[in-house]
Amino acid sequence: MRNCGHIDPENIKDYITRDGYQALGTVVTELKPIEVIEIIEQSGLRGRGGAGFPTGLKWKFTHQAAGKEKYVVANADEGEPGTSKDRLIMEGDPHSLLEAMAIAGYAIGANTGYIYIRGEYQLAIKRLKIAIAQAKEMGLLGENLFDSGFNFEIKIREGAGAYVCGEETALLKSIEGERGEPQVKPPYPTNEGLWGQPTLINNVETLANIAVIIREGAEWFNEIGTEGCPGTKVFTLSGDVENEGIIELPMGTPLRRIIEGFGGGMVDDKEFKVAQSGGSSGGCMPKELLDTPMDYDSLAEIGMTLGSGALLVMDETHCIVDIAKCLMQFFKHESCGKCVPCREGNKRLYNRLDKISKGEGELEDLERLRDLADTMSKTALCGLGQMAPTSIYTTLKYFKDEYLTHIEDNNCTTGSCRGLVDLEVQDKRGGKDYGNNN
Ligand SMILES: Cc1cc2nc3c(=O)[nH]c(=O)nc-3n(C[C@H](O)[C@H](O)[C@H](O)COP(=O)(O)O)c2cc1C
Repeated sequence: MRNCGHIDPENIKDYITRDGYQALGTVVTELKPIEVIEIIEQSGLRGRGGAGFPTGLKWKFTHQAAGKEKYVVANADEGEPGTSKDRLIMEGDPHSLLEAMAIAGYAIGANTGYIYIRGEYQLAIKRLKIAIAQAKEMGLLGENLFDSGFNFEIKIREGAGAYVCGEETALLKSIEGERGEPQVKPPYPTNEGLWGQPTLINNVETLANIAVIIREGAEWFNEIGTEGCPGTKVFTLSGDVENEGIIELPMGTPLRRIIEGFGGGMVDDKEFKVAQSGGSSGGCMPKELLDTPMDYDSLAEIGMTLGSGALLVMDETHCIVDIAKCLMQFFKHESCGKCVPCREGNKRLYNRLDKISKGEGELEDLERLRDLADTMSKTALCGLGQMAPTSIYTTLKYFKDEYLTHIEDNNCTTGSCRGLVDLEVQDKRGGKDYGNNN
């Protein structure tokens, strides 16, 4: 986000003044494609779209794949609830994305790039269109860039708001004009992507790191963050913290520092209860885990995910069963329905949580939730169904007592589960009690 807020995103000259398009110039006039890939590999950059896959390796696979044509796709779908960092990058620094896509195109042997962006991001779309037009006019996109003979053009495709269309194979189908449903992998897009041709798909934030890595070098990048996850991560912090917003921090910054430092602590000094890291398919982190370094490896070790960097912080007034139920409602709605484990599984997880939230739960429901979660994570076709139960696993592990209070004591201590709350209407005038009303 180095340029966000410092440049006029609608003026290419501002970007150029801050070394913009210098890396592209160096790449196409001085480096061989494989040398570009080596720099990205040495930098240790990992995908910021959720899975943390090594970026250089993905570029190498696409470079090596044979095809009539190749494509670069920027994943700007950003459907994860509680995440808006890609929007900020595109609105504040659109050329950093365009420059990176052209560098990637040169490295893998592609002349066309697509930005698949969620349709709601109208300001980002407008600025990207302006940026593309200005770059073309200055010869920084289009034909024969820097007199190198390399051509690169970028097209924009707007998504229609399906969460699953952020999944790479569904996204490609959507660009092709087909129903956005995930495909069985392998083949991976690196070998068979858009229209069956080798395709490189990277997240916007991943790409926003490329030009600066080329300019400053892989070693410079390695010095930021952790050994296994170099660089920075952009977090979207929201919920019951004093300061909600988007922050870029070195990978591995502890959760506590993010919440207490940058977040300014909990609103009204209420007690921290849980932070959901990584968006709706992320895990629920209790206060025992507040000192966890926020990077892909440290979180994976404890069964959590960094995902896209969404951090939803909740205080003591929130009920764990209610949180899990709310998440399952989201997945039930967003499942594309192509595979049974996800289509049926999310519904059934939701129904069982709903039953517990109404005080109708039994102890065996907890076992059933876990069994179904296991089946989904092992058998669902794509990451949506595989990762949907993460909140079930983590809440059962760290907040089992709260489930038991709902089941054994018919009690929701936070008062969130309406089925377990007694509402009493009192008529103060006559002191008349109108009785209980569930
Ligand atoms: C259900 C689902 C939704 C996803 N949504 C996004 C998204 O909105 N943006 C994104 O960059 N990656 C998303 N991904 C991950 C992509 O499939 C893919 O891994 C990513 O774009 C690769 O880029 P990266 O290597 O730079 O992270 C999603 C994955 C799943 C399973």
